[in-house]
Amino acid sequence: MDDLLRELHRRRQKVHAGGGEERAAKQHARGKYTARERLDLLLDEGSFSEIGEFITHRSGDFGMREREVPADGVVTGHGKVCGRPVYLYSQDFTSMGGSLGEMHAQKICRVMDLALQNGCPMIGINDSGGARIQEGVDALNGYGEIFRRNTLASGIIPQISVIAGPCAGGATYSPALTDMVLMVRDSAQMFITGPAVIQSVTGEQVDSEELGGAEAHARKSGVAHVTYPDEDQLFADLRWMLGLLPLNSEEEAPRIDGIPPAIGPEDLRNIVPESPYKGYNVQQVIDGILDEGTFFQIHSEFATNAVVGLGRIEGRVVGIIANQPRFLAGCLDVDSSDKIARHVRFCDTFNIPLVTLVDTPGYLPGVSQEHGGIIRHGAKVLYAYSEATVPKISVVLRKAYGGAYLAMCSRSLGADAAVAWPSAEIAVMGPEGACNIVFRREIEEAEDSETMRQRMIEEYRQKFANPYVAASNGYIDSVIDPAETRQELQLRLQALQGKRARHSSGRRPHGNIPL
Ligand code: HXC
Repeated sequence: MDDLLRELHRRRQKVHAGGGEERAAKQHARGKYTARERLDLLLDEGSFSEIGEFITHRSGDFGMREREVPADGVVTGHGKVCGRPVYLYSQDFTSMGGSLGEMHAQKICRVMDLALQNGCPMIGINDSGGARIQEGVDALNGYGEIFRRNTLASGIIPQISVIAGPCAGGATYSPALTDMVLMVRDSAQMFITGPAVIQSVTGEQVDSEELGGAEAHARKSGVAHVTYPDEDQLFADLRWMLGLLPLNSEEEAPRIDGIPPAIGPEDLRNIVPESPYKGYNVQQVIDGILDEGTFFQIHSEFATNAVVGLGRIEGRVVGIIANQPRFLAGCLDVDSSDKIARHVRFCDTFNIPLVTLVDTPGYLPGVSQEHGGIIRHGAKVLYAYSEATVPKISVVLRKAYGGAYLAMCSRSLGADAAVAWPSAEIAVMGPEGACNIVFRREIEEAEDSETMRQRMIEEYRQKFANPYVAASNGYIDSVIDPAETRQELQLRLQALQGKRARHSSGRRPHGNIPL
């Protein structure tokens, strides 16, 4: 037995050494951890069980027969995060650049199947040169098998992608099919075609960081949901964030003891400025509603005219969707529509009640918006809210005009409760626009057109720019003191706890990829 154990130890050491010390040192010099170090950072100590530890490739072309690829470039298995199970893979860049060949893909597919069968989150740590060139079409087939599994698991188990190195070509589509893409700044890049190909085809010159680094995907493309300065912070945050999610779509997110919010109730009265033309930071309202320090913001740099994320109210996880009047006055546009629709569907699939904070003057006007498909993208918001069967509560803080009022979880779209602050303005359109249309003739014919226009605007404001017309017609359930908002939400969430609603199709919405 001693000999056998020695042999086991020798083989294991070899596999665990990956591509060797030199390549590991190169990885460290770039501010990156190795595949196994990443697992140590993410998982509870001693909780990892490896699957397919000794698997290696079986290809023979291009000198592969003689080539050893420890663990075939990916470590797979299951472990625990804060005592809760997860399945995961971690690509090993030191082992043939973490490139994906037939067996590498099979290992990933095996843990994906197990995660789905056992109702556990699936975490993929990506650091790879892409399809293993020597394995050709077998590598491509491997990606296809992974994409199909990503899709079938979508909406059933949470799928989180960590991008901790290169992720190029079609390889990017596996993360894109998952619920959350977390990227490390400076060391991670994602793109379909790299700088060299772009230059040869379009003549554009760009480096890989500018093209597909964390900043580009956090701000411009919206591919990255959250970015981090380094891997330590990413994995610490991921451990915490997993605590906000259920293990699967049949369960609820773990509930913990509540703590008071960062902002006191009375302070909520002073956030909305008196002038309807002034912006403010809706984050302050969120801080006055959620348990302190529990907000996990998603897409914080993308489509900043909306804020979405997860947090807790008295220990219970809720999804937050808010217009952000600091940017574009909180208008809905193409990108914020996608951001909101996706988040609503994500929360709906994982039994997370929705709290929507409304302050939007409407859809962003403009040729680029119309031609960019605001009709198509805006429809996703209507669809997502109408379809969602989790408890849905909306709070109108200030402006709620026109189609955007309807879209932001109105009673008409199925909100279980809709309340408004006294500062709410709920009407078909804003006073200026409305008066220019309805009183055009009176304004034109008046001796002093401007004074007449202002008078009409004021009259309209008095009559319609308040919550009481909507409340008297039953579209708003109650007008509340802002200081009561958190308590109101808490009571209404409690009352909706037993909500049993079926999706109209009889099936759960399948995943969060907006249609
Ligand atoms: C085989 C690969 C590889 C690949 C890297 N390696 N990518 N081996 N297939 N795709 C190997 C290298 O030969 C090298 O082996 C080791 O990994 C590290 O690579 P380096 O080039 O030395 O590292 P670095 O300088 O950091 O550059 C990293 C890189 C570069 C930018 C990712 O390796 C690169 O451009 N690789 C090719 C990327 C690519 O075009 N992939 C195919 C994409 S198409 P040694 O033995 O020297 O350590 C695709 C299609 C998917 O993925 C389609 C799905 C539908």
